Amino acid sequence: MASKDSRCVLVTGGAGYIGSHCAVEILQAGHDVIIIDNCCNAVTGTGGIPESIHRVCQITGKQVKYHQVDIVDIEALRDVFSKYSIDVVIHLAALKAVGESVKRPLDYYKVNFIGTCNIVQVMKEHNMKNLIFSSSATVYGHSNAVPFVETLPTGIDITSPYGKSKYFTETMLKDVCSQDKSWNMILLRYFNPVGAHPSGLLGEYPSGTPKNLMANAVQAALGNIPHLKVFGNDYDTPDGTGVRDYPHVVDLAQGIAAALAKIEDNNNSCGLRIYNLGEGRGYSVLEMIAALEKASAKKVPYVIEKRRPGDIGTFYSDPTLAWKELGWKATRSLEERCKDLWHFHTMNPHGYLKN
Ligand code: NAD
Ligand code: UD1
Repeated sequence: MASKDSRCVLVTGGAGYIGSHCAVEILQAGHDVIIIDNCCNAVTGTGGIPESIHRVCQITGKQVKYHQVDIVDIEALRDVFSKYSIDVVIHLAALKAVGESVKRPLDYYKVNFIGTCNIVQVMKEHNMKNLIFSSSATVYGHSNAVPFVETLPTGIDITSPYGKSKYFTETMLKDVCSQDKSWNMILLRYFNPVGAHPSGLLGEYPSGTPKNLMANAVQAALGNIPHLKVFGNDYDTPDGTGVRDYPHVVDLAQGIAAALAKIEDNNNSCGLRIYNLGEGRGYSVLEMIAALEKASAKKVPYVIEKRRPGDIGTFYSDPTLAWKELGWKATRSLEERCKDLWHFHTMNPHGYLKN
């Protein structure tokens, strides 16, 4: 261990949306951070270092070590592990576009499943067995009743290779823990993070056409697309549009930091734990549009379209377990989420690219 209170934390995918916010929280908690990322979904800045990482350093006033590494390359991972005495791995690196995963299933299984096998393998070689894994609400599939609680069955009716890759990876990690009780693994099931860092320096600017609701809603508010398409208003929900659980990304990052504290507090003996990271309530598409309009003082033009294939009407988390065992809950208001999202986009009209 680096010192009594400070840990050396490897953050995979730390240049990404959640990973960069997570790195801020971990640095602010006093730990050392090493980031690995292959930059397939990150913009490179000065010195070949992802721009998001420069901004993490700017926000925190601290330095991080960065290595451009593909998690599919096990030798490159071994090289990183041989350079540092890592105490905990927070694993976020993954491919995450649901639609793309249908077109490129092999890539998704390679990165998300085999990449995680590689990380666990190298951790085992170094007898370092503390892992926080980024899973998704998608593992609950389409058949469970809401709210989604951790004890529900998973893996049923998952339609996309992305969703299956998360489910298969969870299954693999559970098997590793059953075979060797000295592992400490926390599997975090993220719901739909939105918003951005309140500084306006970190956020998400998707490469290519955005797929998620708020990314599209912002583009419509900015006038970059003629309108937002609302996928269906005939669901069994109060206004007919889809309902989801949208925690602020900083709340989510603080949930990851709380999981890290759990591994430390238990003196490295928490075993396998699974937690939902969500707010525990849902908002409809129309409620999200109204909140963004208020925060931005802009209209979000929209048209109602047919349901998006594969969508379900409502899902949101039961986050009680994370509150009980991690002392974590999502606290930032919907207004704050939209205000921070808008702030990031007005400060960075071209994302992390230079204006
Ligand atoms: P992101 O794409 O912004 O970040 C992922 C990072 O991983 C990127 O910087 C990318 O360059 C990197 N990466 C991808 N493949 C890699 C590889 N082979 N080797 C090394 N680095 C690689 O995505 P995010 O939204 O920050 O998601 C982070 C994690 O959270 C992912 O595991 C994702 O599946 C999970 N998750 C995200 C959401 C969401 O809505 N954003 C919801 C549930 C779960
Ligand atoms: C996303 C992920 C899913 C993950 C989940 C929680 C996708 C496609 N799916 O699903 O794998 O488990 O978050 O992390 O990324 N909507 C519109 N118009 C749009 C976009 C979306 O009306 O342009 C609606 C959808 O129909 C849905 C809601 O907005 O009702 C949210 O959609 P989205 O942001 O894509 O996320 P999820 O489908 O919940």
